[in-house]
Amino acid sequence: MSVFPKHFLWGAATAAYQVEGAHDADGKGPSIWDRFSHIPGMTYQNTNGDVAVDHYHRFREDVALMAEMGLQSYRFSISWPRLLPNGRGNVNEAGVKFYSDLIDALLAHNIVPMITLYHWDLPQALQDEGGWEARSTADAFEEYARLCYARFGSRVKLWATFNETIVFIGHGYITGSHPPSVKDPARAIQACHHVFIAHALAVKAFREMAIDGDIGFVNVLQPHTPLTDKKEDRAAAALADAIHTHWLYDPVLLGTYPAELLAQTQALWGVPRFAPGDDALLRQNRCDFIGLNYYRRETVVANEEATRQQSNNSGEPGSGGEFGFKGLFKFVRNPDGVYTDWDWEIWPQGLTDGIMMIKERYGDIPVYITENGLGAKDPIINGDIIDDPRIEYLRMHINALEKAIDLGADVRGYYPWSFIDLLSWLNGYKKQYGFVYVDHSQDLVRKRKKSFFWYQNVIASHGEER
Ligand code: NOJ
Repeated sequence: MSVFPKHFLWGAATAAYQVEGAHDADGKGPSIWDRFSHIPGMTYQNTNGDVAVDHYHRFREDVALMAEMGLQSYRFSISWPRLLPNGRGNVNEAGVKFYSDLIDALLAHNIVPMITLYHWDLPQALQDEGGWEARSTADAFEEYARLCYARFGSRVKLWATFNETIVFIGHGYITGSHPPSVKDPARAIQACHHVFIAHALAVKAFREMAIDGDIGFVNVLQPHTPLTDKKEDRAAAALADAIHTHWLYDPVLLGTYPAELLAQTQALWGVPRFAPGDDALLRQNRCDFIGLNYYRRETVVANEEATRQQSNNSGEPGSGGEFGFKGLFKFVRNPDGVYTDWDWEIWPQGLTDGIMMIKERYGDIPVYITENGLGAKDPIINGDIIDDPRIEYLRMHINALEKAIDLGADVRGYYPWSFIDLLSWLNGYKKQYGFVYVDHSQDLVRKRKKSFFWYQNVIASHGEER
């Protein structure tokens, strides 16, 4: 007997910039990714989202494929500058119409829409005013969220404010590999605070407008395992958890920052700076659910030569440096691990453990697995896309999910990444994730992969056959 609850949703996910294309069509304003990807050398072979997989023009065909697969829910994001070309103010009605038509097409096939409001494509106009470092961006986000609720709220019941804050803040403000290409941990922490404030304002607006549905936040779920049982390695993994997990989850689920780290960053750099009322805003506007994007775990070792640096802005991400613990821990390869071609460890048990860790720290918050998938170069054999490794990856993770449900976790849906092969932010099209292949040499023709038929059967049997 399947343990998946009756209303459990079998879904799949994408994000606007990665699929839509039509970057300047029908009144859309530029996003920071439109700007950044046009700077030579920033992405693999200078790939950009100008066309992507042209979902903007082909969404009806894509929704028909979803329906054929039996998909029960589709997670997609709204491009903020498509609705508000300047980030606030003037509404682009053609953009509203696109999402409205998409939602109607999904509902016509009984596919439940799940909307992500922010999947990294900030309007460039707001970046020009300081981006996430400016508090006014949080106010603009509230305006944008209210617009989305007003136009789509009667038809959409599942909403997430932000996707993977650690990634767009970490790469945007610490490694500098995403826009706006800053390398300054103190600025990262302040920008991240404004994201939490924007989230809280959007949750508050959701309640005030009495939208009939649930609103959540999507985070990376990345368990940290110490390489050895040595005390130092265990402490290093605990610090990695505090920085890479608790810092991102506590503000939206508990309404507070982890106290020790907060004291550390405020003593070192005076960040995050709180405006009057921020404390209460965070505490009073917590999520209805948490979305978890699970791909891999990290193995952690203590960096023995490291010394705690005071007032030092040169910390490396992933080492504790972003919180002033310069190089106190390192992520290393697990000698016993199995890795993807992109060096991500495949470790399904981490999904069970991660979900249980969330339950232990945050109680019975409903969970959606908002992403999970295998990035690979798929083999084409006699014209067919035989993506067996993807099927195996997903099967192992569904098993892991089943274990967590068996242990009492309230998991409500599973959204493999991704519905269709799409543009990777930095890697172009060489890393594929989809159930549907897109032929870039032949007018973006869609083709069902082997995994398409496999997942169709998983859905039809409510997880029994896999
Ligand atoms: C998570 C991100 O949300 C998504 O945009 C990205 O393509 C996948 N990870 C794969 O790296």
